[in-house]
Amino acid sequence: MKAENHDVLIVGAGVIGLSITRALHKRGVKRIAVFDAGVCGKEASWAAAGMLGPQAEADETGAFFDLCCESRDLYPALAAELLDETGVDIELDRAGTLFLAFSDEDVQILSGRYEWQRAAGLAVENLESAQVRRAEPFVSPDVRGGLYFPNDWQVDNRKLCLTLRRYCEINEIRIYENTSVDGLISDDGRVTGIQSTGSSLSAGQVVVAAGAWTTKILFGEKQLPLKVEPVRGQMIALNTAKRLFERVIYGSSGYIVPRLNGQILAGSTTEMVGFQRDTTDTAASSLFNMACRIAPSLVNLEIADHWAGLRPRSPDGLPVIGRIEGIDGLYLATAHYRNGILLAPSTARIAAADIVEGGNSVYSAIFGPDRFRLRAVRTGN
Ligand code: FAD
Ligand code: GLY
Repeated sequence: MKAENHDVLIVGAGVIGLSITRALHKRGVKRIAVFDAGVCGKEASWAAAGMLGPQAEADETGAFFDLCCESRDLYPALAAELLDETGVDIELDRAGTLFLAFSDEDVQILSGRYEWQRAAGLAVENLESAQVRRAEPFVSPDVRGGLYFPNDWQVDNRKLCLTLRRYCEINEIRIYENTSVDGLISDDGRVTGIQSTGSSLSAGQVVVAAGAWTTKILFGEKQLPLKVEPVRGQMIALNTAKRLFERVIYGSSGYIVPRLNGQILAGSTTEMVGFQRDTTDTAASSLFNMACRIAPSLVNLEIADHWAGLRPRSPDGLPVIGRIEGIDGLYLATAHYRNGILLAPSTARIAAADIVEGGNSVYSAIFGPDRFRLRAVRTGN
């Protein structure tokens, strides 16, 4: 690799880095290169369940909820565009999501969720036990009822990554795989490029979208106001001969996701174990038991696959999208924690607009990295 000028260098080819790459390219930015320490799309973005469910778990409205809903609503057009651009179907499945109640506590939580979402004019239906079982006959007879969210969907996240990669190939955007970015090059308060395997590349703008590894790359930046930490999530997959469920189904301790190919995903754990991405037998059996509580007939199926990924989490659990004041040439798009697949379209839209127009969108003003610095000043830490 020789030194050359680029308009934008993207660090990290997960769903976030790839989505931003496509959005920039569609806005006319042509000299883009993408770097990934491993294989494109094969970290958290590969491990995910692909749920696009802002409403199912939400207990309040606010900027984060709005961002999630806006991003979900971009998916139908995105799926159609990607099919047109690459010929690949990302399998956006709009059957909706159920959140089931099995205990008094569940009933109470779901009733509160139903009330606020109805009052906010959101699409949600309160189902009795018999209605749930009519909709999904394999659900346990112990079910007490549930909420149905017709607009909370799912997508095949792996196909999404492959499609975004295909977009880059078709448009001759170079992705350097197995090429770790070791650090950023700075000059007088401005990031001017990246350092990778002994070489340096310069660019007008560097976007760091390195998920759970973001802090490692930014370590040299003394003014870095935040730390992004890895949170391991394990998932299992069960194979079935035919599709048993139509909808994504949550219980209070996990979820099952029926894929179009008949596979049922069950997830997930939330573990603070650093950068360990290995799987554990304990997690596999607890996820299997969780799935069987939702649908007891799954007990006859075998675990066909088991994997883990590292979710990137910021100190407040919210995404980090925007610039750091005082450091020009650097843009962060990271820390999407449990919602990076859902938030990829809106993050790409925000980042591309900010970078091309040189401004700050409403959302990057709210979710920008400086919120941590301001908090630190206020609390004296
Ligand atoms: P990643 O996909 O991790 O990509 C970061 C990339 O940066 C990697 O490819 C990595 O190799 C690269 N990188 C790291 N260091 C360097 C370096 N030094 N130089 C160059 N490249 C580097 N979200 C949802 O919306 N819906 C879900 O249903 C859902 N389910 C999930 C289930 C599980 C089990 C897990 C683990 C996550 C789930 N998520 C879900 C969250 C979602 O997967 C993440 O938020 C999202 O994938 C983050 O995308 P990313 O591109 O930031 O990170
Ligand atoms: N959003 C699902 C998960 O992170 O497990």
